[in-house]
Amino acid sequence: MFAISSKELEKSYGGELVLNKINLEVDTGQFVTLLGPSGCGKSTLLHIIAGLEDQDSGQLDCQGQPITGPAQNRVMMMQEAALFPWLNVEKNVAFGLKERNIDKEKRLELAHQELKKVGLADVKKAYPHQLSGGMQQRVALARSMVLKPDILLMDEPFSALDEQTRFKLQQELVKLWQNTDMTIIFVTHSIREALLISERVLVMASNPGQIKAEYELDLPYPRKPNQQKIVNLEAEILEDLLSEDDQKQKALIEKVAG
Ligand SMILES: Nc1ncnc2c1ncn2[C@@H]1O[C@H](COP(=O)(O)OP(=O)(O)O)[C@@H](O)[C@H]1O
Ligand SMILES: [Mg+2]
Repeated sequence: MFAISSKELEKSYGGELVLNKINLEVDTGQFVTLLGPSGCGKSTLLHIIAGLEDQDSGQLDCQGQPITGPAQNRVMMMQEAALFPWLNVEKNVAFGLKERNIDKEKRLELAHQELKKVGLADVKKAYPHQLSGGMQQRVALARSMVLKPDILLMDEPFSALDEQTRFKLQQELVKLWQNTDMTIIFVTHSIREALLISERVLVMASNPGQIKAEYELDLPYPRKPNQQKIVNLEAEILEDLLSEDDQKQKALIEKVAG
């Protein structure tokens, strides 16, 4: 049984086809990245998987059951940490456990454990505005992980961070994932990021959004950007995306020129 699977999934907005025939099979415990240019439908696909939006047609299952809305076993993490500014770090992390009938003491204990894993147990009494962007995203990660999701959906969570902080968080995320059975579907437009963290990269193209190519990365962790295989694949995928762009440009010029 797949963690997530879809067949011929489609979605349009205002008559524009945004997702075209998406066929997806994500194994339980897999780390999959959706890689593609801005506007190719990555977030839309992730929101549909999260149950926050409906597809127009096609099948979409989570663990063999149709997805009909949000569920506790699928947790979404966004680009902005979106922490509650009036709650301290530990209360931010513990917050989502409220609706799970866990008493307060236990909630704070679970939050503490999760904050320890992201190296922030020492600042659990601090408020979000006192933290750097990288620390805020670590808190957001702890807040997601404390819910013990089967499937973690991540929409460009590290895009706003500086290079070295981003690299560190990528490495930490991989470690956290390796210590669980969690499935991760991670969205990025960074080829390098996709290659550094995931087991499988699904390359998307736009107009209409579709999955265009797929790469299985049989490379051990931790990975480095200067590894030959990563460097080669990065160039190959970039070439691919550029030629796609060229074709789109030509088609557009022909259309405009009649
Ligand atoms: N709620 C919406 N209403 C109308 N159009 C939307 C909506 N959400 C996304 N779109 C359009 O769908 C396309 C894909 O968007 P999105 O999934 O956000 O792409 P990505 O995350 O890859 O940048 C874009 O053209 C965007 O303008
Ligand atoms: Mg997006």
